[in-house]
Amino acid sequence: MSTASLRLLVAILALTPAAGRPDTASVSAPEALSGGALTVSDSADTAYTHPAAGLDARQLELFVLGHRMFSNRWAFFWFENAEFGRGPTSNAQACTTCHTNNGRGLTTGTPALPSVGAAGEIRDHHITVPFEPAPNIVVRVSLPGEDVHGGPRLHPQYGDQLQIFGVQGVVEPEAAFALAWSEHAVTLADGEQIVLRKPALAISELGYGPLGDDIRVGIRLASALVGLGLLEAVPEEAILALAARAPADGIGGKANRVWDESQHRMTLGRFGLKANHGSIREQVAIAFFNDIGLSTPVYPDQNCPPISETCSVQMVAGKPEITPLRLDATEPYIRALSVPARRNVDHPQVRRGEALFGQARCAVCHVPELKTGPFPALPALAHQTIRPYTDLLLHDTGEVLSDGRPDFLAGGSEWRTPPLWGIGLAHAVNGADGFLHDGRARNFVEAILWHGGEAQMSRDAFARMSRADRDALVAFLQSL
Ligand code: HEC
Ligand code: HEC
Repeated sequence: MSTASLRLLVAILALTPAAGRPDTASVSAPEALSGGALTVSDSADTAYTHPAAGLDARQLELFVLGHRMFSNRWAFFWFENAEFGRGPTSNAQACTTCHTNNGRGLTTGTPALPSVGAAGEIRDHHITVPFEPAPNIVVRVSLPGEDVHGGPRLHPQYGDQLQIFGVQGVVEPEAAFALAWSEHAVTLADGEQIVLRKPALAISELGYGPLGDDIRVGIRLASALVGLGLLEAVPEEAILALAARAPADGIGGKANRVWDESQHRMTLGRFGLKANHGSIREQVAIAFFNDIGLSTPVYPDQNCPPISETCSVQMVAGKPEITPLRLDATEPYIRALSVPARRNVDHPQVRRGEALFGQARCAVCHVPELKTGPFPALPALAHQTIRPYTDLLLHDTGEVLSDGRPDFLAGGSEWRTPPLWGIGLAHAVNGADGFLHDGRARNFVEAILWHGGEAQMSRDAFARMSRADRDALVAFLQSL
């Protein structure tokens, strides 16, 4: 281990409960323990960064190495002052570029207007903010039809993600892209107006020929990395049982089944915004490959447009660049990240909001409580009662949120119910300012008002609530 890693390991060990790590002792209500026994009570910018309690010395050592892989700045050339291996094509220099402090990506555009009390005060309902680069956004592309496993059909040159960096002077970037936001106002039952924004995407400077007229394009904002190991530890049967519930109030729910290259088999989808990845290992390997341009045992090749003559001959930092040990460390790093405890659980306004969350049917999709099963991959995560506020299923949230880009069984307008645990700390963690798959919602009110399709009833219930009740529901989300 390098001295830097050792120093981090010492720092982590110093944070273990015995030595006064922010622990669960100060949190009493069981509903506050979002991650079961693995909950940490930290509401600062470090809230998403703690390893689960109960890791043994070897697991902690891997956690430290994984943390280093995750926070490393990767360089195109061996002589740069960072670790060699990035690219040839990539979207960022580090995982932490998009997941700062393990939080969600940041958006561009305008901050939300303060809501206004009476109708008619917002005159311009259709403002358009000019195009700006969006560095924490990923643009997914695919062609109509399916690949051999039923997944998206990759573009022959661009694959399934547009990389905005190449190697200067040697390998062209695949494309540049920018977002513009157009705003419109909606009026709630009590007359209050809320301004919503939605993105338009401009793709330019295509390096390897046209995308074609049939191209399907999806915009994705980086999600927060909270409690993913606990979600992996939920038994498949439990998720399938939720999918088998009789539809109520127009709400169904469908499990995604996806190809997992790391296990070479079809599996239940749990990760990614369309539940399009089946395991943390797969999700991590594809992130190394697509986002930074690092090969792994799972994806051993360089991520190159085949037409490029210079890309595939670039020097590599290793075969693969992320060695089996490095992947074996990054996987448990992501898996072991624990969940922050809730705050203000017993506050009357939060309690009121929690009741409204049930009454408005939010809890049908954002299922408050799940149980993990046996979990040999990380036994500390087994048999926990967790409160992630997701069913891990796909739901149709309406045409307004559709990206028209299917991903295995997920249609264009279907998204995985995102877990809501830790969401109240999103801003504290890294200043996060965008919710929903493309970051269009600048706060919880906007996020709720975009829900359509199966969630239309929930959205309408919210729009009919009194201001006090809407505030209570938001206070509840803020307590998560
Ligand atoms: C360019 C921005 C960007 C970079 C860099 C990036 N990610 Fe992500 N990450 C995303 C986006 C966007 C998503 C949502 C992906 C989707 O669903 O299609 C995501 C999702 C994830 C998820 C799944 C979260 C969930 O709730 O299911 C994991 C795990 C993850 N990233 C790990 C990593 C790791 C590890 C790295 C570094 C190797 C990395 N990411 C680098 C943008 C990024
Ligand atoms: C039919 C299932 C369903 C119902 C009912 C539902 N949601 Fe959602 N919710 C989703 C899905 C799916 C998304 C992701 C949509 C997207 O990213 O475009 C989402 C996104 C969210 C987000 C943003 C999360 C993030 O990480 O960006 C919040 C907050 C939220 N819902 C709160 C609520 C509240 C509050 C209610 C009740 C008023 C509710 N939801 C009702 C399925 C549902």
